[in-house]
Amino acid sequence: MKRRPILVVNFGSQYVQLIARRVRELGVYSEIIHWDTPIEEIRDKNPYGIIFSGGPASVYSKDAPLPPREIYDLGVPILGICYGLQVIAHQLGGKVERSDHQEYGRARLKVLKRDPIFEGIPDEFDVWMSHADKVSQLPPNFETLAVSDNSPHAVIASKDRRFYGFQFHPEVVHTVFGKELLSNFIYRVCGAKRNWEMGDFVEEKIEEIRSTVGDSHVIAALSGGVDSTVASVLVHRAIGDRLHCFFIDHGLLRLGEREEVERNLRSLGLPLKVVDAGDIFLGRLKGVEDPEQKRKIIGNTFIEIFEKEAKSVKGAEFLLQGTLYPDVVESAGIKGSAKIKTHHNVGGLPEKMNLKLLEPFRELFKDEVREIGKLLGIPKEILGRHPFPGPGLAIRIIGEVNREDLDILRKADAIFIEELKREGFYDRVWQAFAVLLPIRSVGVMGDVRTYEKVVALRAVESTDGMTADWFRFPPDFLDKVMRRIINEVRGVGRVVYDISSKPPSTIEWE
Ligand code: XMP
Repeated sequence: MKRRPILVVNFGSQYVQLIARRVRELGVYSEIIHWDTPIEEIRDKNPYGIIFSGGPASVYSKDAPLPPREIYDLGVPILGICYGLQVIAHQLGGKVERSDHQEYGRARLKVLKRDPIFEGIPDEFDVWMSHADKVSQLPPNFETLAVSDNSPHAVIASKDRRFYGFQFHPEVVHTVFGKELLSNFIYRVCGAKRNWEMGDFVEEKIEEIRSTVGDSHVIAALSGGVDSTVASVLVHRAIGDRLHCFFIDHGLLRLGEREEVERNLRSLGLPLKVVDAGDIFLGRLKGVEDPEQKRKIIGNTFIEIFEKEAKSVKGAEFLLQGTLYPDVVESAGIKGSAKIKTHHNVGGLPEKMNLKLLEPFRELFKDEVREIGKLLGIPKEILGRHPFPGPGLAIRIIGEVNREDLDILRKADAIFIEELKREGFYDRVWQAFAVLLPIRSVGVMGDVRTYEKVVALRAVESTDGMTADWFRFPPDFLDKVMRRIINEVRGVGRVVYDISSKPPSTIEWE
């Protein structure tokens, strides 16, 4: 069945997949297309509507990505987001200029004129901005529907043609009514009909995996995390015991994690082999301080060990990975996006690998994968696990990694997590962990001067890991965690709480 989509035109935004996914969440199929897709192809897809994503370029620069002009003659509604709004303004005869006041983060939006796009939404609300350019003159037949302090044209529209532009990002959770705005665009402006459910995706993926894999075998490296676990259960469902799972203990896991993961995976009926490789990883990390270097070493060592193990599987042609969309974007696997970090499961793969990649979740976000896990009957305790980075504690010990520091960090982290669970906070945060800093700080314990390590605690709220805000714990909770860490973990003399949001900071410290 060919579904009518909402098309999302990709201008290189970090958030392009997030937009597509929000649309799917609202029940309408969506597809991402590159900005220079020919107009005939766009017309053939018969879209309900088109959304222009944001992007890092400036419309007035020489090589700015701009869509074919005929896109405005299709009679299809268009919503431009951030750079997308500037594209509309620029191509239809308005003016876009560099702004004196760049606007990043939270801003207050004030609605000037009511419109169906604001249905069910108050006159003032918080939105998430991230731009340096702004529209200084509207194109003909456009009007301003809303403003913010630094954007005199924060929402613009040409109602008769059903063209809208938002200077802010409705797709990120920090825009309070973002979902409602997108829903209004999709249903009220475009008149789309519901045509998408996650169950459809699961069935389609199982079929697709069967036909891609054919008679051969698939090997999977499991981390015990949500993504690789759900991916393995999905593939197991599709091809049974032609799936071979390996869990490589790289010596950078949390306290008791190996045992817990092994128990979980076996309970799901997955065919599993556990490989103990801590010594090799720690040996190669000796003296290495640079985070990207650590990621590369861990990534390469991982693949090397894994390839050796994989040789024992006859007929293996595919490597299963639970790669998610944020891993792909942030490792700059998407044309036009900036590289932030090399997440080892994408960027570090050696080119010569003799296996083809199977990445069923490459288009998806973590909570979508959790939803699939639920549909596949995976228990809540496994699906609710916080994300844990592939390089593990190596990127939570700032600087060189050694056994002594790993031991300190494991104990501090375990206390933090234990208290989170006890007080009912674990399921309310996206991710929480301890970080060991490479500095010492002076203290006094029992009348004696101490000079010991500093642990930073991090806990964030997020739905996708792309943006995040720090979690507001009651002070008493932080106090308790601090006291337990200092009393119970030898070598720590100070505990701090990280209150940075993403952007500008990332979730992990390295
Ligand atoms: P950042 O720190 O980039 O993290 O804001 C976003 C999400 O990705 C996880 N992360 C990683 N995952 N390999 C991974 O598999 C990595 O190298 C890596 N670095 C960060 C991070 O824990 C968060 O969930």
